[in-house]
Amino acid sequence: MSESGPAIRNLQADGAQYSPPAAFAAAARIHDRSVVEQADADPIAWWEDQARRLAWDTPWTRALDDDDAPFYRWFTGGTLNIAANCLDRHLAERGDKVAIHWEGEPGDTVTLTYRDLHARVCRFANALTDLGVGVGGRVAIYMGMVPELPIAMLACARLGAAHTVVFGGFSGEALGERMVDFGASVLITQDEGWRGGKTIPLKGNADEALDRAPGVRHSVVVCRTDGDINWTPGRDQWFHDLEAAASPEHVAQPMDAEQMLFALYTSGSTGKPKGIVHTSGGYLTGVASTHANVFDLRDDDVYWCAADIGWITGHSYIVYGPLANGATSVMYEGAPGYPGQDRLWDIASRYGVTILYLAPTAIRMFMKWGDQEPAGHDLSRIRLLGSVGEPINPEAWEWYRTHIGGGAAPIVDTWWQTETGSIIVSPLPGLDTLKPGSAGKTLPGLRAEILGEDGNPVPAGEGGYLVLSHPWPSMLRTLLDDDERYVSTYWDRFPGKYLAGDGCRQDADGDLWLLGRIDDVMNVSGHRLSTIEIESALVDHPAVAEAAVIGRSDPVTGEAIAAFVTLRDGFEGDAILIAELRDHVAIRIGAIAKPKSIVFTPDLPKTRSGKIMRRLLRDVSEQRNLGDVTTLANEEVVAAISETAETMRASED
Ligand code: WTA
Repeated sequence: MSESGPAIRNLQADGAQYSPPAAFAAAARIHDRSVVEQADADPIAWWEDQARRLAWDTPWTRALDDDDAPFYRWFTGGTLNIAANCLDRHLAERGDKVAIHWEGEPGDTVTLTYRDLHARVCRFANALTDLGVGVGGRVAIYMGMVPELPIAMLACARLGAAHTVVFGGFSGEALGERMVDFGASVLITQDEGWRGGKTIPLKGNADEALDRAPGVRHSVVVCRTDGDINWTPGRDQWFHDLEAAASPEHVAQPMDAEQMLFALYTSGSTGKPKGIVHTSGGYLTGVASTHANVFDLRDDDVYWCAADIGWITGHSYIVYGPLANGATSVMYEGAPGYPGQDRLWDIASRYGVTILYLAPTAIRMFMKWGDQEPAGHDLSRIRLLGSVGEPINPEAWEWYRTHIGGGAAPIVDTWWQTETGSIIVSPLPGLDTLKPGSAGKTLPGLRAEILGEDGNPVPAGEGGYLVLSHPWPSMLRTLLDDDERYVSTYWDRFPGKYLAGDGCRQDADGDLWLLGRIDDVMNVSGHRLSTIEIESALVDHPAVAEAAVIGRSDPVTGEAIAAFVTLRDGFEGDAILIAELRDHVAIRIGAIAKPKSIVFTPDLPKTRSGKIMRRLLRDVSEQRNLGDVTTLANEEVVAAISETAETMRASED
C-alpha cells in the first residue's frame, strides 16, 4: 500500500451472519448454486447468455475480443439500439406499465409509463437531430433529478450520440472544463434545481461554463422553477418548445455494440478528472444482468435507487439497468430531509417500494435522525435492501435491516466503480449468507483476486490489492483521449489484471471485505474526490503557498475533507480566509469539494524525497499515535501541526 494512501479502515463484524429467509430463497431468481458454478467455469458463455436478455439487430460474431488487450471489446459484430432496448421492446407487453414514478421536491409528481417515456424520448431525439446531433455526436447534460434527465440520456442513446452527465453539484468552471474535454456541441440543462427548499442556479452556472466552451453551440433549457435566468437568443432554447414542435415518431437505428454510450468524469489520483468511456452492448448486458440478479427483480417490484443520476450509480441503476429490465422505478428530485426527516420513508410507503438501494452515508444520516422517522411509515412492502458507494459499517447495516427492512429483508452490499460499469462484488440474495460489513463474493462471470506487493495472492485474512482477473462486458474501454493513462492506471501494476484501486481482504469462506482506497482518492458521502484536485484548487488562491488535503474518517460522511495550508508571506490565516478558501474550492470544483476543516500550518510534513506525508496528517487529524516519523525531513513541523489540530476542530462548520 502506498504511504500516501488513506488509512485503511478495517470493518470487522462481530461475526453475525444471516441466511436468506426460506420463502425469499425459494422464490429467488438465482437460488441454485450450480448457476454460479457454471458461470465460474465458463464466464464467456455466462455473459453470452446474459447478452441474450437484450434485443440485438445483428448477433455478435465474437463475444470477447482480446486481440488488443487491455483494450478489450465485447460482442463484436453485434448491433443494437440502447434506447430501443430500454423502451420500444417493452411497448407490446408493458406499454402501460409505469416506468418512472417521479416526485419533485415541492411535492409535484409525474407518472411516466413505458409508452409515455418512449414518446417523449422519440420527440427529443428528433429535436436533437435538428440541432445536428447524430451518430458519434457529443452532448453534455447538467441537470437536477428531473424526468427530462433520463429522457435526454435516452434520446442521445437512441441517436448513437454519446452523453456526459455532469453532476449538478459541480461548479460552472468544472462543467466548462468537462464540456471542452468531451467536445460537446450541445448542452442540456435547466433553469434551476430544487434542493432542500432552495434553488440551485444550474443555468447560471451553465452560462459561465458556456463562456469557456465555445464549441457548445446550443443549450437546451428545461423550465423547472421558472426563476429568473439570463437568455442568449440563438444559443438558448426551451426544452418544452423543442419537444412540442418535434414528432413523436422516431425509428431507432441499430448501433455497433462498441459505439460509445457515454463518458463519465471521475476523480483519479492526479488533478485532471478522467473521462471513463463506456460503450453499448457490453454495458447494457452488464447492468441489465446485475440489476435483475442482484436485486432479484420481479415484474411487480417497485424499485428505488435513491442516488443521483450524475454519478455512475444513477446511470446504471436508475436509468439503463431498470429500463432495460422493464422495471417500475421511483425517482425523487430533492433532499432526503426535506421538508421533514421522514421524506424518504413517506415516499417509499406511498409508492409501495419493494426494493431500496442507498449509500451508507445516507443510512448513517437516517440513523442519526432517529428510529421514529421510518417507524411512522408503512415500509412493510420492502423485501430487499441495497448499499453502494463505500464500505458499510456493521452498525449501519444492522440498523438498515432492522428499521427499514423489517428485520428480515436481505441486504446486498454492492461493490463496484464508475470504471466497472456494473456491480462486481455482491451477495446473491437468494443464495448467499450475509455478513454485515462484507460485500460477499464476485457475481457470476467475474473473477477477483487479492494480491500482495509481489503480485502473488495473499493468504486468507490478509489485506492486499483487489484486482479483477478476467475481463467483463461492462468494463470501461479506455479513458477519453488518453489510452496511455488507461493502461498505466489500471493495467501496468499487475499485467493482465485490472487494478481496482481498493484494498481488500478475503476471509476463510472467500468473502471479500473492502478496506478503502489505496490511492489519493477520497470517498466523501459516497462521492469520489481527488485530494490532488482540491489541493490544486487551494494553491490556485493568491494567499496559498502550499496545500495538503486528506480524508479523515467521519461518522456520517465516511470521510471528511481536511485541508492543511501554508500561506504566502503577508497573509494571515483567520476565519475570514478560511471562509474564502472554502468558497474558492466551491467555485473551482463545486460545493461538494469544500474542505470541512482548514488548518494553517507553517510547513507541511514531507519525506526526504519531498512527498507530502498524508498518512501523518491523517493521524494528526484523528488524534492517533503518530507512529514512525523517521522518514520525515522536517520533524519540527509535526509538533506545530499537532498543536493546530484543536484549532482545526474548532474551525469546522
Ligand atoms: C468505493 C460507485 C466498499 C470503492 C459505484 C470504489 C465501495 C469506489 C463500495 C468507486 C462498497 C463503492 N464497499 N467500497 N460496497 N462501493 N465503493 O466510481 O472505494 O463513484 O473504488 O462508483 O467507491 O466509486 P465510484
